[in-house]
Amino acid sequence: MDNTELKKQAAEKAVEQIKSGNIIGLGTGSTANFAITKIAELLKNGMLKNIVGIPTSKATEKLAESLSIPLTTLNEINGIDLTIDGADEVDDQLNLIKGGGGALLREKVVAQASKREIIVVDESKISKQLGEKWHVPVEVLKFSFQLEKRFLESLGASVELRKADDGNPYMTDENNYILDANFGIISSPGTLASKLEQRAGIVEHGIFIGLVHEVIIASPNGIRTITKK
Ligand code: A5P
Repeated sequence: MDNTELKKQAAEKAVEQIKSGNIIGLGTGSTANFAITKIAELLKNGMLKNIVGIPTSKATEKLAESLSIPLTTLNEINGIDLTIDGADEVDDQLNLIKGGGGALLREKVVAQASKREIIVVDESKISKQLGEKWHVPVEVLKFSFQLEKRFLESLGASVELRKADDGNPYMTDENNYILDANFGIISSPGTLASKLEQRAGIVEHGIFIGLVHEVIIASPNGIRTITKK
């Protein structure tokens, strides 16, 4: 079974938790897209009613609009019942690396506003320790990106400015740059996260700690769920 089918299985499993009337955070990326497509299908056939979505990126907003999912903004509501999002890497403490698709800032804002954050992945994303498989995307101000690059290097990372397909620097939805910082295996994600959070020029980073309530993992042997202790 290829990863695409596994992503679909994990995403559709998470959608089972949505109830009519919920405000739903809509994640970003190929796995979250399967959840969004399923939500649209259930709205169309009447199995779900009165759902409102909060998209975590412009790309997700576009997809949800094309599927006629009603949307709102964080400024018009008090909280999100449930968010379904993907991840690039998940450790056994339910910490994540996110931002492979560039949406880490809005994704983290939405996660912090969510009563339940459900992460949907295929089993290739699971690691013992973060950094085994993925670098840390770090969203930085254009104003000081070279300075932040040197700061990340001083912490031991090898760092690349993310480029768009046209060769220009990749721009986030909030008009910032992304530095992809490879720290190797991250022995203490919390310590690294606090160091990054002290820098004014770092807008946000892709390490998500303590934000996840449940991870749904699809593998060729079936689907398993890990919930926050
Ligand atoms: C988007 O910025 C990321 O955080 C995604 O959630 C992550 O890259 C997962 O993407 P896929 O579902 O496409 O693997």
